[in-house]
Amino acid sequence: MTRRDISNAPCIGNKAEAYEAFDDIPTNPNLNRTIGDVINARYGRRDMLRGVLGVSATTALFGTAALIAPNKAQAAAHANNRYVFDELAWGNDATHHVADGYDANVLLRWGDPITADAPEFDVMNQTAAAQLKQFGYNNDYVGFVPLNDDGTRGLLCVNHEYTNEEVMFPGLGRQDKVRFSGMTPDLIDIEMAAHGGSVVEIVRDDAGVWAVVRDGAMNRRITPLETAMTLDGPAAGHARMQTNDDPAGLNVIGTLNNCAGGLTPWGTWLMAEENFHGYFWTDRLDADGKPDISEQPEAAQMKRYGVPGMWYAWGQHHDRFNIDKEPNMPNKFGWVVEVDPMDPTSTPIKHTALGRFRHEGAETTVSTEGKLVIYMGDDNRFDYQYKYVSGGSVSDDRAANSALLSDGTLYVAGFEDDGVVNWLPLVHGTGPLTAENGFNDQADVLIDTRIAADLLGATPMDRPEDAQPRGDGTAYIMLTNNNRRKAGNTNAANPRAENDFGHIIEIKEEGGDHAATTGTWSILVKCGDPSIAEVGAQWNPETSQNGWFGSPDNAAMDAEGRLWIATDQGSGWAKTGKSDGLYALETEGDARGTSKLFFRCPVGGEMCGPYFTDDGETLFVAVQHPGTDGTKDLAGFERESTFEDPATRWPDFDDNMPPRPAVVVITKHGGGKIAV
Ligand code: FEO
Ligand code: CA
Repeated sequence: MTRRDISNAPCIGNKAEAYEAFDDIPTNPNLNRTIGDVINARYGRRDMLRGVLGVSATTALFGTAALIAPNKAQAAAHANNRYVFDELAWGNDATHHVADGYDANVLLRWGDPITADAPEFDVMNQTAAAQLKQFGYNNDYVGFVPLNDDGTRGLLCVNHEYTNEEVMFPGLGRQDKVRFSGMTPDLIDIEMAAHGGSVVEIVRDDAGVWAVVRDGAMNRRITPLETAMTLDGPAAGHARMQTNDDPAGLNVIGTLNNCAGGLTPWGTWLMAEENFHGYFWTDRLDADGKPDISEQPEAAQMKRYGVPGMWYAWGQHHDRFNIDKEPNMPNKFGWVVEVDPMDPTSTPIKHTALGRFRHEGAETTVSTEGKLVIYMGDDNRFDYQYKYVSGGSVSDDRAANSALLSDGTLYVAGFEDDGVVNWLPLVHGTGPLTAENGFNDQADVLIDTRIAADLLGATPMDRPEDAQPRGDGTAYIMLTNNNRRKAGNTNAANPRAENDFGHIIEIKEEGGDHAATTGTWSILVKCGDPSIAEVGAQWNPETSQNGWFGSPDNAAMDAEGRLWIATDQGSGWAKTGKSDGLYALETEGDARGTSKLFFRCPVGGEMCGPYFTDDGETLFVAVQHPGTDGTKDLAGFERESTFEDPATRWPDFDDNMPPRPAVVVITKHGGGKIAV
């Protein structure tokens, strides 16, 4: 989620030559291991989980007994909580904190050079050319692709969701409030070069310390400024995808607002395009100064998607982001992008089979029959939860695997009040998805995914963010908040009006099969302060004042198959008084619904990532936009951060440096698995 989301109810060609100078391309261990090995390591965990899930089966729809009999339940919950660490105290200050016994070191910051020929970061004299070789802004998704068998060397794949000009550039301030009057073409190009993604090789030494390999052969930036991508799947080449620079409708420059994401079993990286609408511009304004799209041939779907958002002034200087000049360009964004981090010359692919919406994430798993399944939220108030099931099965044939993202079925979720979830297929010719309703082919269904899902009667949710599957047919859905849901408009799966703090839904797919078209659902926790009755929170009573949280956003499974939750309160920090952070949320046994605080962000920073390595010994987290969220309402600061006067100068604490988004690497003192 972005700041602007609250207030508003973007080629590797130039890099290829550099990479050709290197011939030290390590072997992808995914090619040495069988795909079965990889799946067992990353998703399977089925054998290991079986014992735990035996306990779970007896308390399947939340251990209500734990809520009713707290004393007895507390002792049992404490004994059965599988996360072994001493909980961190909640709070709110200028720096990050991690539970005792762990190191949390800054690994990569905005502006850090990531290619051998990259210039050192000079914040007072930044250029787009420099930014294209440096780590981007607002790190969000983090994934790790190992380059050796023991996982001590690998590629970090990081999304860069958006930019905050007021703390990036000296003397500028918030530009959306002044009609972007200070945004020069050079500054806009820096913004564009700071978006997208980074592939960075990292290595762990014998002492367990991770470091960046600056001249890593696969190190690469992907940006909306210049990275060429191809379109694939049913909407590729469609008339609605044709633009002046691409009459065939098969290509696009760049990716926008890459929020959460995922890795495939064969080691490619999925970047979710979230708030793409915010980057489009029109010069046509109505009498109120709002965008006038009445002359647009696709005005209805533009309205449903919020195009043009006009959050950035890119369209003033780049025609492709001006819908007056390129009315079809928004149709080329809002997809899931696949990147092969092992091949720095590869062209990223936008897979249209996965639908077009504000994709929050794209976490993958494998069904009982070996099909690739991807859970994806559409982060908007009253929008939907989706999943994609491939037609074929994952195999050792890497090229064939990529085709799994081209041919499959996209489903949207209907959460019934009786605890059943039905997955409704978005297939042309099925139900209302016919020419009579404006869908002439499958491309129309996918380009207008939201409208198709509306017609299928999907359940409007409280802002579906990340969704995290586990190999046993379980998935966890983050519903971050929805302050516009009114009393009388609630449903069993979204039970609270004015839902300021969000909730988490657990899905158990029928037969433990992620490809199933039906399953059951239950609410794992309702977030917020359990000591305030009006909040209506629901936690295991073992949860302490440190452990409860608001606004669940990203999620991860660790090597033990345990759930971890990252929060993003946006402008709402004052509603909890707490920093965003990372929480260990028990899903099994008597301790189900118990949350413990493990890491917290510096003031104004959102918690992104997280990602656990397969050995469970390293946790990567990403601190996004330190210093910016919610500071206006926080006691002790009470103003919005600027470059000159930020709420924190994390992580450098240098008077000449603004706060910098950064990836933090967490390891246990002396090594070993985290929280074990
Ligand atoms: Fe980029 Fe929905 O958070
Ligand atoms: Ca995740």
